[in-house]
Amino acid sequence: MSETQPIDALRHLEQEALSAIAEAAEERALEEVRVAYLGRKEGKISAVMRLLGTVPAEERPALGQEANRVKEAVARAIESRGRILAGPGGGGHHDLTLPARRAWKGARHPVTQTIDDIWGIFRQMGFTRARGPEADSEWYNFVALNTPLDHPAADEQDTLYLVDSVLLRSHTSPVQMRTMEKHDPPIRIIAPGWVYRRDTYDATHTPVFLQIEGLVVDEGITFVDFKATLAEFARRYWGPDTQVRFRPSFFPFTEPSAEVDVKRVITRPDGTRQETDWLEIMGAGMVDPNVLDNAGYDSERFTGFAFGMGPARIAKLKHGVDDLRTFFDDDVRFLSQFAR
Ligand code: DAH
Repeated sequence: MSETQPIDALRHLEQEALSAIAEAAEERALEEVRVAYLGRKEGKISAVMRLLGTVPAEERPALGQEANRVKEAVARAIESRGRILAGPGGGGHHDLTLPARRAWKGARHPVTQTIDDIWGIFRQMGFTRARGPEADSEWYNFVALNTPLDHPAADEQDTLYLVDSVLLRSHTSPVQMRTMEKHDPPIRIIAPGWVYRRDTYDATHTPVFLQIEGLVVDEGITFVDFKATLAEFARRYWGPDTQVRFRPSFFPFTEPSAEVDVKRVITRPDGTRQETDWLEIMGAGMVDPNVLDNAGYDSERFTGFAFGMGPARIAKLKHGVDDLRTFFDDDVRFLSQFAR
C-alpha cells in the first residue's frame, strides 16, 4: 500500500460524509449518517482508524493526526446539522402535531433544461460542446463571418460595443470561427451561450439572452446532411410525427440560408390529436465558403452547415409561456412549475 492511500481514502470519506450530512433532511437520517461513518462497529471512518495499527510505525503519527482531524470535523458537522434539524429551541422538544417541514429541492431553470435536452440530442449524434468569449472583437462577431461592418447587424444601434472594435457578442456564431481556428476538420460542435443586443426589455425581447450554435464541417458534407440532421433533431426533440420545413432566408455566413420551422402533433387531454401552426425554431444554412477561407480551411475541399437557435424561445413555445421576461424574474412560484 503506498503512503498516500489511507490519507486519500480518509479525505474522500470526509467529503462524502460532509455531503451526506448536508443532505440529511431530518434527525433520523442524520443519525444514520453518523452510524455509517463514525459508528464503532460499521463506521467507515472508524474502520480506517482501526487500520492505523497496520501501517508502518513512521507513517502512523501523520496518519493518526489526519484521522483524528477528519473524525472531529465530521462529528462537529453532525452536531451543527443536528442543531439546525432540531429547530429553534431544539433538543428534544418536538411538537409531533406540527405539519412536516417541506424539504426544498433545487431544480434546473426551464431554459437550462431546454439547453440540456437539445445538447443531449446532438451529443447522441456525435457532437461535442464548444465555447467562446462573451466579449469579442468585430472580426469574430462580424467580419470573419462574412458580415461587412456596414451591414445593418453591425450597426451600433443593435450591438453593444465595449471599446473601439470590442463588443459583447450579438450571437454565438463567433464560436464557429474560434473553433475552426483551433481545430482541423472534422468539426461537429454545439455551443450554447449568452449573447447581447441593444433591445428593449419586453415580452419577446431581452437584451441578454441565450443562443445555441451548431457547426458541422468535413469533407463531403452536403445539403442532404444538413436537412437530415436538423430534421432528425426536430423529431427527437418534438416527437416522431413532427414535420420540418426549410424556408429560404438570408444570413451573411451561410449560402444557401434557411429558416427552419416545425409543425408538431399534440395530443389534447381528450385524446384527440391536433397539428400546431408552423413554429420557427432556428436559422441555418450551408457554411459560406468565405467563412471557411477566413478560418484557414480549404473551401474547395471542405463544406459544412451551421445553425443557431434561441432556447428561451423554444422553452416559451414548449411550455406556452407568453412573456419571455418571466424566465428572468427568478420568481420561484413560476419556476417551480417546471421542476423535474
Ligand atoms: N447568428 C444568427 C442570429 O443570431 C443565427 C444563425 C443563423 C446562426 C444561421 C447560424 C446560422 O449558425 O447558420 O440570428
